[in-house]
Amino acid sequence: MITYTKPPHPREHRLIFKNIDREGWDQSIDCCLKDGGYEQLKKALAMEPKAVTEEVKKSGLRGRGGAGFPTGMKWTFIPPNNTKPVYLICNADESEPGTFKDRYILHQDPHQLIEGMVIAAYACGVHTAYIYIREEFPAAALIVEKAIEEARAKNFVGKNVLDSGFDLEIYVHRGAGAYICGEETGLIESLEGKRPYPRIKPPYFPAALGLYMCPTIVNNVESLCHVKHIIGMGGDEYAKLGVARNTGTRILCVSGDVKNPGYFEVEVGKVTMREVIYELCGGPKDGREIKAVIPGGSSSKILRCDEVYKIRNPDGTTRDLPFWDVQMDFDTLAACGSMAGSGGVIVLDDSRKMSWVLNNINAFYAHESCGQCTPCREGSTWMRKISDRLVAGSASAKDIETLESVAYQIDGRTICAFGEASSWPVEAIIAKFRDELIAETTEVAEIAPVNPEAVAQ
Ligand code: NAI
Ligand code: SF4
Repeated sequence: MITYTKPPHPREHRLIFKNIDREGWDQSIDCCLKDGGYEQLKKALAMEPKAVTEEVKKSGLRGRGGAGFPTGMKWTFIPPNNTKPVYLICNADESEPGTFKDRYILHQDPHQLIEGMVIAAYACGVHTAYIYIREEFPAAALIVEKAIEEARAKNFVGKNVLDSGFDLEIYVHRGAGAYICGEETGLIESLEGKRPYPRIKPPYFPAALGLYMCPTIVNNVESLCHVKHIIGMGGDEYAKLGVARNTGTRILCVSGDVKNPGYFEVEVGKVTMREVIYELCGGPKDGREIKAVIPGGSSSKILRCDEVYKIRNPDGTTRDLPFWDVQMDFDTLAACGSMAGSGGVIVLDDSRKMSWVLNNINAFYAHESCGQCTPCREGSTWMRKISDRLVAGSASAKDIETLESVAYQIDGRTICAFGEASSWPVEAIIAKFRDELIAETTEVAEIAPVNPEAVAQ
């Protein structure tokens, strides 16, 4: 029986975090092998590579880095007549504010990731793979490097893996402390030794033209770990976890104003906002009430707890969905105007001023913009200056109007999704907390909301 130093909540369903905080678990390969480690790799190597991809497609796995793109489908985008090398990159540049799951995997269960990567590499015809680890995880980089050497000593990595004829080298690459290196094309540029300026996509996505202009699959740490379990269970069985189109489990990282913040691995779509906050996290702090939640990392749009969303049913009719009943899955959160993102759930109670939240987010994005395109570079700094004034008590109501206008002029006009990531929180906070923000300005005036269509013209 597995016991934990910090026991999982009864609502959890642990696949990926099975070994996190496990008593007697030391993340070494010996420990991992005693627990059935690398058995799924053996199973995968006995299959045709295409059959491995087929299982991942059947599983319905959607990327856990933030975008929720179907992993198996991404693998099939490698051009069929390709003659160049194909690369696999594990994106371990976990930096989205509110997200802290991949670090635990790297620290406590690196062999789960390596096994998932070897299986993914085999499926995609990859012989060179990279793990791009953010600079702020120096211990993780050392742990993973050691684990790769352990795996190599057992012939799970290297030449002729387990006598299958399949060769794979895995290299650890350390970032240098930039959030934009988590954007897959910025990451690729960085790996090539250049400044991490994101590339324009479409038309060319990394699966066709990536590292060194060769087909490259970029997957998040958690996504690659799921691959191992999909092979173990079979894609169909895995797809029974979660809900339709939102299968499997995912790790929610809950931070902020709850009694018991932390990480919780749950079946996707099987818990509601109410269950996350009241059951998993013990509810709001004493004497406080929940005000709002940022459900998928700082880039996702804030949700107010008194909101009711209009949701379209499969038959075309609509239904009302109150905030507290929102299921934490990709599609439901998108239908509520936000996103499940990277699983970073940030809870805010009634002690939080929205001007402070806005300024905190603006400061982050202004600092992290790579500066390549004007709307993002200038706009993120402009937004930060305005919200600085707001928290200092010297902003006018007209400033809120300007702030909103700047956000809409960044949105959709930049090279990478960072532009939207910086503007969406501003748009949502102003739209949903306009009165509160205006009450903090020096002159209270009636402000007409910005019409995004008018701005677009
Ligand atoms: P995206 O939607 O542009 O792409 C998702 C993935 O699907 C990419 O790998 C892309 O190459 C692939 N893809 C999409 N359409 C394709 C097509 N037609 N052909 C081939 N491949 C295609 O989203 P992106 O920019 O990769 O990710 C944005 C998300 O990342 C945000 O939602 C945010 O939540 C998250 N994020 C997560 C961070 C973290 O620390 N985990 C940090 C920053 C952002
Ligand atoms: Fe850089 Fe921002 Fe442009 Fe992305 S949107 S390329 S982060 S300046």
